[in-house]
Amino acid sequence: MKRSVAIHLSWALAACQGAQTPLDPAGDQSQNLFSLFQLMLWVCGVAYALVLLFLAWAIWRARHVAGRIDPAIEPGDRLIGRSLWAWAALVLMGLVILTTGSFLADWALSRGERAAALDIRITGHQWWWRIEYRDPAGGWIETANELHLPEGGTARVLLGSADVIHSFWVPNVAGKMDVIPGKPNMLALTPRRVGWFRGQCAEFCGSQHALMAFDVKVETPAQFADWLARQKAVAMPPSDPALRRAQQLVTEGVCAGCHRLRGTPAAGRAGPDLTHLASRRMIAAGTLPMTRGAIQGWIAQPRALKPGTMMPPVPLSAADADAVSRYLVSLK
Ligand code: CUA
Repeated sequence: MKRSVAIHLSWALAACQGAQTPLDPAGDQSQNLFSLFQLMLWVCGVAYALVLLFLAWAIWRARHVAGRIDPAIEPGDRLIGRSLWAWAALVLMGLVILTTGSFLADWALSRGERAAALDIRITGHQWWWRIEYRDPAGGWIETANELHLPEGGTARVLLGSADVIHSFWVPNVAGKMDVIPGKPNMLALTPRRVGWFRGQCAEFCGSQHALMAFDVKVETPAQFADWLARQKAVAMPPSDPALRRAQQLVTEGVCAGCHRLRGTPAAGRAGPDLTHLASRRMIAAGTLPMTRGAIQGWIAQPRALKPGTMMPPVPLSAADADAVSRYLVSLK
């Protein structure tokens, strides 16, 4: 019995930690919102406890004292009058604390946007995320479904949608922001803890809304600079002749209609950029792990794995499927 209570308690506490929770803040913006949440919890908790306390007192009084007091309470009863004033003052104080807290939290959130040192453009698609980093040397460096952020730096994320309304949410780092077609929104992210976190589309956007996730990796500024430099590089031609044939299949065949591989003829824009596909942890927006088997399965039967996906099945011979998946996992 004692043990099961301990297990339940540890589950309850474990629910406050993890890669996708606003209760374990790892960034300035989420810390801000978490503090506001705690303030609201305390103010409302105290008000709730007081209401219950007075209710219990009234019930007790009705049972034990009711017969002994005069039922006709005068409207001018001074004690009641004073208690009502005290209660009204208490409610007003609570509301002033909550309003001031929300104002300060809002103000701190907008300050982050102005302090940003890094510009990122994120576009929601049914059902994946296009992610582009502004290159200090000009232009944009593109990837998908995996957001890297430098610890302690502020990124200004410009959010847009290619189709319907989505919502961008990395609960450990910041609050939610709607992603609306035709109306760019801005969100500042200042992560303070190195590690992997998980983001999720938080607005119903069609059948695969739940599989519109993304990984977020917060790393040291030096690691981030390395990562960005690697993402900027073009896809290297493979030295293995079997992989060279696979590269030709991918970059000159049907895949190239939708995907781009920088440094090759593949320049499609409908789907995710595959230049450094294998540097990412997951494929298909958090649907499958980045393994050769998953890639091969995804190419053959994407609609069995993620019904409704825009990615069409690509029939390949067994030998070609094998070579193509080997080539794709070599794209680090
Ligand atoms: Cu995109 Cu839900």
